[in-house]
Amino acid sequence: MKTRIKTLLADKPLGAQVAFAGWVRTKRDAGAFSFLEIGDGSSLANLQVIADAALGNYDSDIKALSTGCAVMVEGEVKASPAKGQEIEVLASRVEVVGWADPARYPLQKKRHSLEFLREISHLRPRTNVIGAVGRVRSYLGFAVHRFFQERGFVQVHTPIITTSDCEGAGEMFQVTTGLTPGKGEHFFGRPAGLTVSGQLQAEVYAMALGDVYTFGPTFRAENSNTSRHLAEFWMIEPEMAFCDLQGNMAVAVEMLKFLLDDLLAGCAEDMKLFDSFVEKGLLDKLRGVVEHEFAQISYSEAVERLLASGKSFTFPVAWGLDLQSEHERYLTEEVFARPLIVTDYPASIKPFYMRVNDDGKTVAAMDILVPGIGEIVGGSQREERHDVLLARMREAGIAIDDYQWYLDLRLYGSAPHSGFGLGFERLLQFVTGMTNIREVIPFPRTPGFAPC
Ligand code: 4AD
Ligand code: MG
Repeated sequence: MKTRIKTLLADKPLGAQVAFAGWVRTKRDAGAFSFLEIGDGSSLANLQVIADAALGNYDSDIKALSTGCAVMVEGEVKASPAKGQEIEVLASRVEVVGWADPARYPLQKKRHSLEFLREISHLRPRTNVIGAVGRVRSYLGFAVHRFFQERGFVQVHTPIITTSDCEGAGEMFQVTTGLTPGKGEHFFGRPAGLTVSGQLQAEVYAMALGDVYTFGPTFRAENSNTSRHLAEFWMIEPEMAFCDLQGNMAVAVEMLKFLLDDLLAGCAEDMKLFDSFVEKGLLDKLRGVVEHEFAQISYSEAVERLLASGKSFTFPVAWGLDLQSEHERYLTEEVFARPLIVTDYPASIKPFYMRVNDDGKTVAAMDILVPGIGEIVGGSQREERHDVLLARMREAGIAIDDYQWYLDLRLYGSAPHSGFGLGFERLLQFVTGMTNIREVIPFPRTPGFAPC
């Protein structure tokens, strides 16, 4: 049975005979021995293997090893005299199972730029930094489920193919069979697309099961080539019945704090790497978010602050215009220097489903902005009043017939409810310090880019 290197490094079974496998990170020949640093991806740390020149395949194989080769090793765990490692393995057998021609293998020992690594997305998870992102992403995804499951939320698998455009921003990818027009033009009998959000279907289940959440891929055909946008990204969307905007914000804040706290404890080694090499001070930043209250202002106050700032922004600031990333970042980074919740946006710039406030002009919306990124959460209380919702949908030019089911929810046992969407990659950017969102998803899709 092979053991993971992470387990060996944690257990330190001195004197034990062990078997493990991995890839050569480096090799150093020292006369009667070769020192191999082996990593298997289970953690950042490598395990040092001492390969004696007396091994049968030493001259034929071991001497020819280079970075990237795959090996299976058997040997005895010893205390290591070398600095920075507690154990090493004296090999009784080193089998080379896959060579990596050093003249061709693109990942040599030196540091590569993240841009270069993006061009080789099939190899980049082998680097320390992208490997660490992969582990942190997996850990955090599980923590999301833990957070909700421990609080009694029910997970709903909302559809990926949908006939409703939740955000109504015309960013849906169309789903077709590619058949010629005529019979079978619309596989589902009407136009369908890839979901931009699971919210509307999550609302259906919230009106039956109470507190629910969906966590899955979402798609947006936005032609925006920014460091914060992907055409395919993952979103966490809780939806809570009998819950108003205050309750909604409370869940969002609790969730963010839980996730950061849990990550700092559970991925300490990888998080230290990001703190050292990606964003200095990252750990203190995240600890600060866990320990301090989030700031909160209304959209109207935000606009006042921006107008009073004396800053010259690229995009105009006026009540009724949406906040741009530069505005969001100024507020969260310079004015408050911590996460900021902005509430009560103008109805005219927000989707039809948000609940209209008593002023008739604003909606019970909330966005959470964080330093370095801007918006990571967008949510609202939902319009539960049938007549108000219908009027809003008509105003927005929505095909009412297609959304009869959504309106029905307001006819039979309608109840106040709220929810939000957390962009999983935006969260990963925040916790790893990665400036480009393309680094925190294994296979990024952006306009003109989807290599594998
Ligand atoms: O603000 P958005 O568009 O809200 C919704 O989709 C709601 N239906 C959510 C809900 O209330 N259930 O998107 C939510 C979050 C954003 O705050 C952002 O973090 C992320 O999703 N997001 C993106 N992430 C990466 N690439 C994109 N193109 C994104 N668009 C939104
Ligand atoms: Mg938004």
